Amino acid sequence: MPLLRILTYPDPTLRKKCEPVEEIDDDLLELLDNMADTMYEAPGVGLAAPQVGITKRVIVADIKPRERILDSPEDEEILLPPDRSELIELINPEIVFSEGEAIGEEGCLSIPGFVSDVKRKYEVVVEGYDRDGEPIQIECEDLLARVLQHEIDHIDGILFIDRLSRLKRELLKKKIEKVLGKEEKYAVL
Ligand code: NI
Repeated sequence: MPLLRILTYPDPTLRKKCEPVEEIDDDLLELLDNMADTMYEAPGVGLAAPQVGITKRVIVADIKPRERILDSPEDEEILLPPDRSELIELINPEIVFSEGEAIGEEGCLSIPGFVSDVKRKYEVVVEGYDRDGEPIQIECEDLLARVLQHEIDHIDGILFIDRLSRLKRELLKKKIEKVLGKEEKYAVL
């Protein structure tokens, strides 16, 4: 299970609008496997293909809390391996319905070290295809709805910082750019 390198801001690939998947072949299945492994290893609750340099409309997510144990004598906390029972793999995902609003804290594996409150839809219905090419529909709310909206934004080249009010965005971008570097140009919603 090769882990993939996660691109970080201000990598221009993160700003690409990704292409729909037209055929599910071995390469795509391998990508899905490697994306899930990379997400769990990070650890994160979601990952989109452009974050690993592939500009295709593919995302993975898993919000199931991982079990932790304390490793004595150092008392170091260890994250147990995921059971993958709630792993979501979505090809060509689309939000077909959304309702309500919710504000919650978000971070991103591509903007390490920074978080902010982001306003999202509280409830969404997402349609897409699974790895067998079968259509799937996911109706969800709260955290999973937030994660899917965040990941679907990624395949359109949108980062969570773009979803902030102008003032908050400019302040956070300044801090981010001090640490990670400056973007040439970026999408503003
Ligand atoms: Ni992200």
